[in-house]
Amino acid sequence: MSKLVPAVRSGDVLMPAIGFGTWQLENGTAIPLVEKALEVGYRHIDTAQIYGNEQDVGAAIKTSGVKRDELFVTTKIWIENFADGDLQRSAQISLEKLGLDHVDLLLLHWPKPNPPMAETLAALNDVRAKGWTRAIGVSNYPSAQLEEAAKLSDAPIATDQVEYHPYLSLKTLKAKADALGVSITAWSPLAQGKVAQEPLLIDIGRAHGKTPGQVTLRWIIQQGIIAIPRTSNPKRIEENFDILDFELSDKEMAQIHGLARPDGRIGDWIDKTYQWDAE
Ligand SMILES: NC(=O)c1ccc[n+]([C@@H]2O[C@H](COP(=O)([O-])OP(=O)(O)OC[C@H]3O[C@@H](n4cnc5c(N)ncnc54)[C@H](OP(=O)(O)O)[C@@H]3O)[C@@H](O)[C@H]2O)c1
Repeated sequence: MSKLVPAVRSGDVLMPAIGFGTWQLENGTAIPLVEKALEVGYRHIDTAQIYGNEQDVGAAIKTSGVKRDELFVTTKIWIENFADGDLQRSAQISLEKLGLDHVDLLLLHWPKPNPPMAETLAALNDVRAKGWTRAIGVSNYPSAQLEEAAKLSDAPIATDQVEYHPYLSLKTLKAKADALGVSITAWSPLAQGKVAQEPLLIDIGRAHGKTPGQVTLRWIIQQGIIAIPRTSNPKRIEENFDILDFELSDKEMAQIHGLARPDGRIGDWIDKTYQWDAE
């Protein structure tokens, strides 16, 4: 499969703009789905310590036969492992589970006030210096915390992986990330399936011979943002990858931006020390 997926510059690495998300794919279910994704042409796989499926993702990578240097594998350090020493040990365990000697990107899963960010970022940089990850980054960091992380880190912060879909505005964070040279990775890019019922996305899709999900993913990658949709349905693995042969007009892009609303956020599990950007 040789479809050319755009790459997004993220700190000092390039990330494929379409990845396969694996949250909630537990008890071995990730194995055939990740295998299918790799067969279809995905080269970017997103997992996390807390998903409990790093071993399954690793097994699928192994049987796929895809060359390691063609793959972009992300995992995330769970918040209980943020102390110096714990973080490095947990990263090593992740690598053992994945059966890899390094990942491509290692993220801090959610911001957390304790231990101090400086300690956690020093430990994350240590993991990178050991060669266990090519790049480091954060997840669910609002713009103020992203800026702080970028200041504290020796290595560039490659990405901030955050919730993003048509029902959410990302204006403030995207502007901050652009200024810092950090890419954005969109989690729940399909608003956990809600986009399929959205009349505007259905209409735009009809005009292009595409589904509302495909329109949404295209809208995300056309902004230079990385999307990591998840599905348990092999047909949809293909559908969500088939977004490289059409383009949304400026008018269509703006119409989709118009769906953003103040209550559009799905995952609001942030430590109360922090505040999401207002828009
Ligand atoms: N960093 C974080 O804190 C964080 C948080 C959440 C998620 N993530 C990452 O982001 C990935 C994606 O987010 P997500 O899993 O929450 O949600 P998502 O990708 O927005 O949506 C997944 C849901 O949408 C359905 N779906 C998939 N493709 C579809 C299509 N083309 N049309 C209509 N419905 C479709 C799926 O159902 P079927 O299975 O029936 O297709 C599934 O129920 C996760 O798997 C994970 O890797 C990260």
